Amino acid sequence: MGINVALDGPSGAGKSTIAKKIAARLKYVYVDTGALYRSIAYYVISKGVDLKDKQALIASLPEIDISLEYRDGSQHVLVNGEDVSDKIRTPEISMGASKVSAVPEVRTFLFDLQRDIAKKNNIIMDGRDIGTVVLPDADVKIFLTASAEERANRRFKELQEKGDLSTYEQVLADINQRDYNDIHRDIAPLRKADNAIEVDSTSMTLDETVEHIAKLIEEKTGAPAPREKKERKPMLDFSGIEPVKRGKKLNPVRMFFYNLLRYIVIGMLKLWFNLKFEGKENVPKDGSNIFASNHRSYLDPVLICLPTRVPNTFMAKEELFQTNKFFVWLIKVFGAFPVSRGKGDMGAINMSFEKLNSGRNLVIFPEGTRSLDGKVGRGKTGVALIAAVAQCPVIPVGINFEGKLKFRRKIVVRFGKPIDPEQLKVTTPGPKELKLLRTTIMDSITELVH
Ligand code: DC
Repeated sequence: MGINVALDGPSGAGKSTIAKKIAARLKYVYVDTGALYRSIAYYVISKGVDLKDKQALIASLPEIDISLEYRDGSQHVLVNGEDVSDKIRTPEISMGASKVSAVPEVRTFLFDLQRDIAKKNNIIMDGRDIGTVVLPDADVKIFLTASAEERANRRFKELQEKGDLSTYEQVLADINQRDYNDIHRDIAPLRKADNAIEVDSTSMTLDETVEHIAKLIEEKTGAPAPREKKERKPMLDFSGIEPVKRGKKLNPVRMFFYNLLRYIVIGMLKLWFNLKFEGKENVPKDGSNIFASNHRSYLDPVLICLPTRVPNTFMAKEELFQTNKFFVWLIKVFGAFPVSRGKGDMGAINMSFEKLNSGRNLVIFPEGTRSLDGKVGRGKTGVALIAAVAQCPVIPVGINFEGKLKFRRKIVVRFGKPIDPEQLKVTTPGPKELKLLRTTIMDSITELVH
């Protein structure tokens, strides 16, 4: 019998991502039991069985042969020989899995398979009932949670990156429904085992959660967890980039039309929304400034443009440039240029300096993605890097509204006092200095969000 770690918790708490990372680090086998329930849902849905028809569902079980294979460290699920690992990750199958998992015969069907794998290997197994039913004698039991809103936020971002069109509200409703199903079913409901350690990851990053759980396993099993070797990102080379020369005048004809358009759009938006600007005196009259804002909606770049007399530019994720032609034209008019996220896109950074040098302002959303619940997330260090090298004032912006943007919704856009380039000056833009700068910028934004 190997070492058994049971990791239970509600949908979307990040169990699988975390378990995978821990398994790689401890050289354990990772067993994703949710994938087994998903496979059953996949098989019966493909066969056209109505999930409410329990007899038909139970009658299908003997036809299903599920096996797990491990290739390059990742788990592949095979249903009657077909690799269904990707096909079982749709919202339809998620909901189906939640339903089939409430059927006792389905749970019994999967019970032996899970126990067999655990007997033969050092494993970390994630699910809902691992610590309570499947492996009641597990060496370590963790119950991982996070608030429903935070789980929905994470899941929504994941789906968006895959191009899925589900809205945040749909994802949250789904999570709440699946929580309800999992907690209230009669058999093996989701519940924390008495001797499980609860870990709430709501305000922890992924790396912090992995670190915390790996330490808990280490303490419980006495086996030192090897430190994960961090892959160093290649350093970006800024040696050839000079600080921005400010004071450049833009073409007066373009400025006239830009300002005309600005007043028209202000008028239109004020008719539609209850729109207020605060701290307009903090918006410089000239160009080459950096506006660093929280990110709430696709309207944000426009909202920030409205009180600025000089046209802005902003980085937008490259996926947006592959959408509808009219939308692409519109965002380009408002100064968007593409950035590939998470890769330290040097082309986009050079473009930012070019735009600032030409006298335009640059809008940056340091959080990278939109925050749907209005909370300001962790900023990326890129904003600090650009500000430190460009040596342009950074004006913090807070965009505030409740719920979703709809007719007559109150929107308050607050501009804070510019952060002086002197304060942004760092002699060596090393990770520590940049983190400090990022904190200064993010704290200023957070103060404007209330
Ligand atoms: O973890 P997941 O989202 O992939 O799980 C899919 C469904 O399977 C989930 O709604 C609950 C169910 N499940 C279960 O009942 N018991 C487990 N051990 C794992 C998953």
